[in-house]
Amino acid sequence: MLDTIFEKVDNLNPNNDIVALKKAANILKNNGLVAFPTETVYGLGANALEEEAVKKIYIAKGRPSDNPLIVHIADKKDIYPLVDSVPKNALILMEKFWPGALTIILKKSSIIPKTTSGGLDTVAVRIPNNKIALSLIKECGFPLAAPSANTSTKPSPTIASHVYNDLKGKIDMVIDGGSCDFGIESTVVEVCENNITILRPGSITKEMLDNVVDNVTIDKSILNYNTNILAKSPGMKYKHYAPLGDIFIIDGNIDNIVSYISNCLENDKKNNIKSIVIASDETINNYSSFDTLSIGSRKNLELIAKNLFKTLRECDNLNINKIYIESFLEEGIGLAVMNRLKKAANYKIIRV
Ligand code: TXA
Ligand code: MG
Repeated sequence: MLDTIFEKVDNLNPNNDIVALKKAANILKNNGLVAFPTETVYGLGANALEEEAVKKIYIAKGRPSDNPLIVHIADKKDIYPLVDSVPKNALILMEKFWPGALTIILKKSSIIPKTTSGGLDTVAVRIPNNKIALSLIKECGFPLAAPSANTSTKPSPTIASHVYNDLKGKIDMVIDGGSCDFGIESTVVEVCENNITILRPGSITKEMLDNVVDNVTIDKSILNYNTNILAKSPGMKYKHYAPLGDIFIIDGNIDNIVSYISNCLENDKKNNIKSIVIASDETINNYSSFDTLSIGSRKNLELIAKNLFKTLRECDNLNINKIYIESFLEEGIGLAVMNRLKKAANYKIIRV
């Protein structure tokens, strides 16, 4: 068991807490693990170029070894040593979206250990848009491999206590930099000379990518759940984001959704099953005789994305066995919300 250090760092002015940042950088220089905030979710960082350090990430998270990690850098020029070459369309994306929630996959160079790339010959890279993350990477002087800082299969952490609850005793330090701006992981794209494939939807949407580059497609495994279609992104094939209770997504006309869920909750009550509905502002009053968690307004899908993982974790705190959630429009960031939800529900979708 490690004695996990927990320290707050000012997210507007990380230099006010330079002592804590230097402590974190020292741990990373000695091949240790430090969780830190990004604008998407908290990341679990290790030196991306040191096999010994990166191995510890897989162990701490209980992550399958073929699931590659994202390498975080602080400056665009720092991508060049990590990859074979940077095609023009990748450069356009970097210019437009970095720092930001876009992860770009390219052919890797030989300095990226196979452990970091999960055995693949490609590497995923991004510049996070978070002052603490950027200061930490600069203080280290090397890129940080950082998956989401949750135990494998759990919802990604959007505040420091989520990380601490999952990983205390297993990692060296958690930097508390408050809550993450987006609350959902970055958009992951694979870039080839002539086409760009979205392997994981996120807050940078297809529409936003289409505005700056040509030939953007969404990987088939995201649009259709079909076990015959193998996910290109290894992480997308695993059970993920799941709370302990069973989740059911109810899809259809909103009035039908409300009456279907109300019936289920009524039945569960009779059978002494602890269940809850995750409802939107627009519908929550319809469930007043049941236990509810509010996830925000349907008109603000960004806010729903931000609340999603926090709300799923709340279900665990309440020891809920069955969770009903209303579906959302698969448009813009709604595609990312529904992608995470479907995986959390293990594709249990009831159409009413
Ligand atoms: O927002 C984020 O991306 C957060 C923060 C911490 O930066 N990180 C994150 O990492 O979500 P992780 O490891 O939880 O998810 C990375 C995803 C996985 O689905 C993984 O399979 C995929 O990216 N990925 C990484 N490298 C890849 C590669 N070379 N080829 C295909 N997929 C890759
Ligand atoms: Mg993850």
